[in-house]
Amino acid sequence: MKKIINYGSHNIDKKDIDLVSKALKSSLITQGQFVKKFEKDLSKKFKSKFCTVVSNGTAALFMIGKLLNWKKGDTILTTPVSFLATPNCIELCNAETKFIDIENKTNTIDPDQVENFLKKTKKKVKALIGVDYAGHPCDWESLRYLANKYNFYLINDGCHAMGSKLNNDKGYAKKFADLVTQSYHPVKALTSGEGGSILCNNFDWDTKLKILRNNSMVRDKKKALWKYKMFQPGFNFRLSDLNCALGISQLKKLDLFVKQRRQIAKKYDEIFENKKNIIIPVELKKAYHSYHLYSLQINFKNLKIEKKYFFKKMLNNGIKLQVHYIPLYMQPYYKKKYKLKISNFKNSYNFYQKEVSIPIYPGLTDNQINFVTEKIFNIIYGLKYD
Ligand SMILES: Cc1ncc(COP(=O)(O)O)c(C=O)c1O
Repeated sequence: MKKIINYGSHNIDKKDIDLVSKALKSSLITQGQFVKKFEKDLSKKFKSKFCTVVSNGTAALFMIGKLLNWKKGDTILTTPVSFLATPNCIELCNAETKFIDIENKTNTIDPDQVENFLKKTKKKVKALIGVDYAGHPCDWESLRYLANKYNFYLINDGCHAMGSKLNNDKGYAKKFADLVTQSYHPVKALTSGEGGSILCNNFDWDTKLKILRNNSMVRDKKKALWKYKMFQPGFNFRLSDLNCALGISQLKKLDLFVKQRRQIAKKYDEIFENKKNIIIPVELKKAYHSYHLYSLQINFKNLKIEKKYFFKKMLNNGIKLQVHYIPLYMQPYYKKKYKLKISNFKNSYNFYQKEVSIPIYPGLTDNQINFVTEKIFNIIYGLKYD
């Protein structure tokens, strides 16, 4: 069977397998020493005082909504160019989602449009969730300024951006945002199988998060060893030691993984630069892109090619692409609930028409890169490219 080249993939080596095996042989395979170690390592790597690992990035976002007590009447701002999990955490807390369009260099939430909204709204804006789309940081300086001026919490949904930097700082996410979420799904820059975390500098928040992920159980060992109390309903969003062992081992290779992703991106840049009807991703001077995605834009309209035809042809050649993302305001739930119109989101709609996520992951070979780019050129230009 022909091997499919996917847009993203995990990269597991013997060291990963050995550490997971060690975790399997431990006396505790959940909530043991590997959980604590993974949290400590993540805090150190991303320069946060505290870290709570959870079952996935979706749970991490939802727990922030619960932690900050979002409720009916609260408004949370976010980007329409993200995964479903980003706004779903707002809706699951019964708060209102307000999508603000992206700016069209980095495809992240546009601070100017955020400020325009804040100037005229009477809504209670409680927080803004920014997404470092594809691994390129948002304009966090401007977003922090607005958060201070208009008094709301700043959350960095950093699920794409482990290993990114801003102004040469790998701890930028926590520096600017009050709370940061990460995901360790296999297509991400590092994986723990499934997994996620919340990073913050606030001891009380971190304590609450650790209680919340464990069915809101508060141990009361002073009274008796078996005693515990519960003050609000909680969840089981724990991450096992097996996942954490894999995460610990993968985190050690994050810088190398990102370096390899950047090398692949550079090759793609060189191949696609100045080609007609193709736009390559931007990396601003102050940013260090971690290329969770290589988000290419192809002007299908000019080329008179249907995007779905292009996808099919690529798959026939064994290349599985993806689109990140169908803008969230186009999802039936959001469209219907908030009566959203595409005409209010020109940048993200334009981007969606053109966006194609092409294969990028450590281990993608030069031959595979050449194969992918050759097929793209063959299909869109209808010529044999050499
Ligand atoms: C931007 C963003 N936020 C949140 C998530 C949710 O993470 P998880 O899949 O670990 O639940 C993802 C996952 O793809 C994501 O890309």
